[in-house]
Amino acid sequence: MAKLGILRMGDPRLLAKAAPVDDPSDPAIQRLVDDMVETMEAADGAGLAAPQVGVALRLVIFRVPPARDDAGETGVPLTVLINPEIEMLGEEWQHAWEGCLSLPGLLGRVARCRRIRYRGLDRDGAPVDRVAEGFHARVVQHECDHLDGILYPMRLDDPAEFGFVEELREAFTR
Ligand code: NI
Repeated sequence: MAKLGILRMGDPRLLAKAAPVDDPSDPAIQRLVDDMVETMEAADGAGLAAPQVGVALRLVIFRVPPARDDAGETGVPLTVLINPEIEMLGEEWQHAWEGCLSLPGLLGRVARCRRIRYRGLDRDGAPVDRVAEGFHARVVQHECDHLDGILYPMRLDDPAEFGFVEELREAFTR
């Protein structure tokens, strides 16, 4: 395994639409997944999409630590999702602060659909089909946005609700 470089916002590769993965069992895809897991863990992120490491394929990884699970669950273990599709369930949208490994040190307040169903393939090519709520649903929507060249600042309702983690933390604790 190898830790990969994470592209930062401003790199045009983050704005491209990614192509479907033809064959999850391809050794190059398996290696990419291993490298992305190592990269995400080293960066202490909740999710990572292949375009963030310069690979324009529809593949994301994520996990929900128990401490961040707000849907009454016990977290979501590391999940590999290939060629994902998202279906919004219901009309309820939730605002929350969101970060991204491609915008280190920054946060923005973004609305996401509270409840979704997502489908795709895991790294063995087996189907994944889950309903997700809250932070889990947020992470999946955020990561899948990367596959269409969308970064969270493009989804801000209010551009004023965007800034550096340290300054925001100070502003909220004053
Ligand atoms: Ni991101």
